[in-house]
Order: sequence, then C-alpha cells, then structure tokens
Amino acid sequence: MQILLLTSSARGHAIAESLSKSSHNPDIISISPRSNPGIKKIAKQEYVSDLMDFDSALDIAKKHDIDFAFIGPDDPIGAGMADALDSIGIPSVAPTKSLARVETSKAFTRNLLEQYGINASPKFMSFDRADPELLSKYIEQDLSGEFVVKYDGLRGGKGVKISGEHLNSTEEGVKYAIECIEECGQTVIEEKLNGVEFSLISFTSGTLVVDTPAVQDHKRAYNGDTGPNTGGMGTVSDANHSLPFIEQRHLDRAKEINRQVAAALQEQCGVPYKGILYGGFIITREGVKLIEYNARFGDPEALNILPLLKTDFVDICQAILTNSLTDDLVSFHEKATVCKYITPEGYPNNKDQKGQQIEFPEMPENAELFYGDLTEDSNGNLILGGSRTAGIVGIGDTIEEAQAIAQGLCEQVKGPVRFRDDIGTKELMQQRVNTVKHLFS
Ligand code: AMP
Ligand code: GLY
Repeated sequence: MQILLLTSSARGHAIAESLSKSSHNPDIISISPRSNPGIKKIAKQEYVSDLMDFDSALDIAKKHDIDFAFIGPDDPIGAGMADALDSIGIPSVAPTKSLARVETSKAFTRNLLEQYGINASPKFMSFDRADPELLSKYIEQDLSGEFVVKYDGLRGGKGVKISGEHLNSTEEGVKYAIECIEECGQTVIEEKLNGVEFSLISFTSGTLVVDTPAVQDHKRAYNGDTGPNTGGMGTVSDANHSLPFIEQRHLDRAKEINRQVAAALQEQCGVPYKGILYGGFIITREGVKLIEYNARFGDPEALNILPLLKTDFVDICQAILTNSLTDDLVSFHEKATVCKYITPEGYPNNKDQKGQQIEFPEMPENAELFYGDLTEDSNGNLILGGSRTAGIVGIGDTIEEAQAIAQGLCEQVKGPVRFRDDIGTKELMQQRVNTVKHLFS
C-alpha cells in the first residue's frame, strides 16, 4: 500500500506516525514544504515541494502507485487539492474545494447553518457592500457594540478581529470590515460570544460521523491566556474523552451539530464530505454555539488525538473513502493528554532565534515528540525555524499526570525556546470549570 501524505508541521508528523503504525504496513510518500526530520524517518520517500504547487504534487503522485492521499493543512485543501488528485484517480482523505468552504468561507458556513435550521450561530450578517453607515448601524444597533469582524477566507488564523481585543471602537470595526470586503469581497460581522471553547473533531464520510476525544486549545502566546494569538500553544484532552468543564448535554449537542452539518454539506454540495470535520465550539449561557469549522485536523489537536488511537488509522481512512465508517473502527485509549508546544523565544513576534540549535530529551513510553518547524543539518543537529518548533505530549491517567509528564520533558529541552507551563495545570482547568459554572449560576 502506498499513501501520499501532503503535510507540514507537527500535525503532519503525528499523522505520518499514526499511518505508519497500521497493520497494512503502508509506504508513506510525503510531500512537505520543507524537510521534516520526523516525517523523513517514517516515509519511504520525502519530497520537498510547496503544497500549493499542484502541478508538482500531481507529478510526484503520478510517479507512485498511490492508493489514497491524506492532506493535512487548510491551504491546499481550500484551494482544491482533493479535486486535483481526484482528476488523476487518487482519492483523498480531505474534502473537495466546494465542501471545504465550510472552513474557507465564514459566510458560507453561517448561511448553511441558517438554511438547514441548525441553531448554533450567534447573531450574524454578511456584507459585500462597503457602506460605512450600514456597517456601523449593524454593529451598534443590532449587536450593541459587542462584535466580531471576520475575513471571509483563509488568512493564516489572523482573519478574525474581536471588539475589546483587536478593535477598540465601531469605527475600527467598520474600517476592518471594509478592508475585508475590498480584499475578499465579503465580511461576516457577528455577535461576540462569551464562554469556554473546545474542539470536537470527527471522522466524516458523508453522513457517517464518528467523533474523536474533545480537546481544548490554548491560542494565546503566554501564560494566563495573555499575549497575541498563535497557531495554538498547547492542548488538553481527558481520559473520558470529554473535558472537566464540559457537561454531557453540551458534548452531545456539539456531536449533534457535527452530524447535522455533515448532512447539510452533502445536500448543499451534492457530494459526500470525506475527511476530518473540526468543529470549534463555545459553551455560552445560551448553550453550545459554533465559532467556526475547519476542514482538517487541528494543530496541535491531532497531537493529542492520534497517539490515543487504539484501532488502525489506515482502516479508518479507507472506511472514510468507501463510505463504510463505523463506530467499531474507531476506538481510543482512556487516557488524558497534555500537549505543549515548544516555540522559539521570540514566537510569534519575531524570528530572532531562527537558525539556532535545539536538543530534546529522550521520550519515555508515556510521551510523544512531534517535530514542527525545525530542520536537521548535515551533522544531524536540529535547527530552529521561526514558527512552532515541536509538540511534546504527555499521556497519563489524569490531566494532572499528563501535564506533569509534558512539563517535565519541556523543561529539559535545550535551546533558545519557551513553552506555556500553565497548560493542563490544575489551576487553569479549575478556572475553566469555574467560568462555565458562573455562566449557569
Ligand atoms: P477563527 O479564526 O474563526 O477560529 O476565530 C479565531 C478565534 O476568534 C476563535 O478561536 C475565538 O476565540 C474567537 N472568535 C471567533 N468568533 C467569535 C465570536 N463570535 N465570539 C467570540 N469569539 C470569537
Ligand atoms: N488548533 C487550531 C487549529 O488547528 O486551527
């Protein structure tokens, strides 16, 4: 069996490792924008090529007898890599360009939910006319000045601006909304929600949906959820596959929304969604609401989820492709995980440490190390890139235990790097529990 893996980052390393553990013993043919020492070790062949260069990807694919492809990141999925591979007879575990609008267009997703009666959106409106009066009236009168302005496309996680955080007045909101309209033709302005967020990622094949453990990401750069937003500094999952602050009814509702959205997507686009459907949810006073969808695994969420998989990941991928996905094919260890991302000291503000050396400790049985933005020099030294360096995942019976494992290993990393030592701690988890309690008191 030959699997084409189009990835970058630690998420790609985690996917490669999971595929390689399969009883099918597949050869992994990898395409990455830069060599990843983790994937390189696993892959039969590693090609370095820009994932947005479709011609190059198809040329590489044609050289091998590929059974199926797995596409990791949002950009190639959103631009139609699955459609391109399909045109040369290669099925992909990733949605087509049309289905991927669930991630690439905020307006598409909000309208889809509305059209199919899925009651999970905040108050919202999409605008394609740069009319300052109309925009400011909506922000002030309909949303009472508590608003979020969203770029209607992929913008490297930087398309969302929130009042009170990035936007300090209606005028700033209107200005950003107009910038969005001018750049991508459309913007979504919506009510700012208050609550606690979690991710629920589901394996999806048309209307067949099987969930993975719920995960919480920590997007802010520094301890105490302060500093600029990042790609994600770390993630937590619990042994019961929920989280201490999620009530059963809230998890059940998120699962139901993923199922309703998978069915709505199939009806709307006329083809089944075959891939990973990632729902970003928030628990609010009014119940569970949808923040956004992604058409792929989360990074770092995949680093928590995939090491827990007891069943064969290749079997799951094949079942997604043949529309035969069942609950029996997907089983996870009942363990908690805490992933902490090691990043250069300057991340995300500067890339001053790029090119410097880093060393990791040996990983024990109850931990995983996934390589992100780092390379290996000719002497076998690991060298920092400018972005998130590597995810260290502790696996234990409780979040507390998993946290201690991840923390202990992160502290032993040598180099000009940092990580968030509060992720997964008892104090931070308790804060989330208190916030949710407070919402309903
Ligand atoms: P997105 O790019 O859609 O994931 O949004 C990035 C982050 O913005 C999310 O993780 C949320 O923390 C925040 N966000 C997005 N939409 C809203 C909203 N309606 N209310 C409050 N926060 C939001
Ligand atoms: N962890 C957030 C994301 O992958 O988008």
